[in-house]
Amino acid sequence: MRKKLKPKYINDTALDILRREGIFLCADCGGRGTCGKCRIKVHESGKVTDEEHKILSDREIAQEVRLACRVRISEIPGAESGIEVEIPERSLLYDVPADVQVIKPEPLGLSEIIAVDYGTTVINGAVVDLNNGIVREASVLNHQKAYGADVISRIRAANDGYNEELRHVSEDDLAELSVRLGKDPDRARYIISGNTVMGHLISGFSCRGLGEYPYTPVDISLRRDGSITFLPGISAFVGADIVSGICACSLDQAPEPWLYVDIGTNGEMVLGTGERIFAASAPAGPAFEGGGLSCGVPAIPGAVSGVVITGSKAIPSVIGRSSDVPAEDIDGEESSLPVKPSGICGSGIIDVIAELLRNRLIDENGTIAAEYAEEGFQIAGDVMVTQKDIREVQKAKAAIRAGMETLIAKSGLKAGDIRKLVVAGSFGSSINMDNASKIGLIPEELLPVSATAGNASLAGATLYSLDTGFGVRLTKLAGSAETVELSETPEFGAKYISYMGF
Ligand code: FES
Repeated sequence: MRKKLKPKYINDTALDILRREGIFLCADCGGRGTCGKCRIKVHESGKVTDEEHKILSDREIAQEVRLACRVRISEIPGAESGIEVEIPERSLLYDVPADVQVIKPEPLGLSEIIAVDYGTTVINGAVVDLNNGIVREASVLNHQKAYGADVISRIRAANDGYNEELRHVSEDDLAELSVRLGKDPDRARYIISGNTVMGHLISGFSCRGLGEYPYTPVDISLRRDGSITFLPGISAFVGADIVSGICACSLDQAPEPWLYVDIGTNGEMVLGTGERIFAASAPAGPAFEGGGLSCGVPAIPGAVSGVVITGSKAIPSVIGRSSDVPAEDIDGEESSLPVKPSGICGSGIIDVIAELLRNRLIDENGTIAAEYAEEGFQIAGDVMVTQKDIREVQKAKAAIRAGMETLIAKSGLKAGDIRKLVVAGSFGSSINMDNASKIGLIPEELLPVSATAGNASLAGATLYSLDTGFGVRLTKLAGSAETVELSETPEFGAKYISYMGF
């Protein structure tokens, strides 16, 4: 794709201008020049920055490849009349395909409402009819991703002056979701379950308090704002998605110890002892939602969601429109694939690491076999897993595991005391728990009591839509949880280091 860019503000980068024009580039690092995802080509673009020299090869620089977040368009001679840039397909944010094209959205019925799980990566919605339950479901990509892959980079973007842009992007995504659900966005009503940062960005709240200690949110109560009802959260980093997920699984009413872990762009976890409730958020980064990985994608059609490796050959499963399908048919031909593999999602990367370990292609420190050190290990087509990807997963799984262990210790319990472990998140229902334990993400002794919950956050929003009395349970849980600040708990750091290996 080619595009002529004209700067509006003096410091405008190519990434800024493209975003304002509705062209969203991958930008996992949020424009800090470290992820390398926003590559574009610019003719005679001036001085290549130090950050770019660290990421781009000499060949790329010779071919006029630049990082869109580092190119200040106004500094290029002739910028007033516009600078033409070339955007390769792979730098563009992928989309969540719509299952059905809606030609003319209808007004929401009087007995209908839209329940939403507003995820950091993907926004899932359902039209809930008070008499008939869920009548239609749809998803859209969260285009805030063009401002960073995880909540920390979104907070940074909001605090760097992009708050209003992020609010507009949120509005547009919600409207698109409504259209995909067949409903007129101008007359829609929503029940939103999402993390605290999403709630702030949709409402246009300042994110200053979320960006620095003591991490104070503006408002996380059960509240109504125009056509949107926001479900309540616990803290700046344990949000309404966790509260509604726990109540949807009825854990808030369980008499015995339980642990609920949501593995998304952060590892949020809540532990109930039967008497007290402890909540924490582990800074895992977005690896388990496909962010920060060289070929990472969310769990959308085309994503590799599972893998078996035999010798040096990977046999992936790819998410199809209605079910996972093997990536190769019986003859090993790829031509009959309903969906071409486009990248690896969270459940897929867990399988990949477990299988690489089983085949001794990575060692206990996470170092990949020498023959794959340069190019990475091929999963399907040009979908590869690299040494850097493995390091990202190591950091993510160490943070989540160390968080779980710290929370258990803080509650005075031992892992063996937990009677139920529920794993939720975007890959909640497709995660292979044995492999999750094999890579050290989940304690082995919790495997027999573990269960997956799929999208429990959407289930919670749906239950509230059907019965606002459910809100009493949500508010009670949110109000009674004690927040554990992992970064201020010395044992968390020690455990984090000890769980880095395999
Ligand atoms: S390097 Fe440009 S957004 Fe990450």
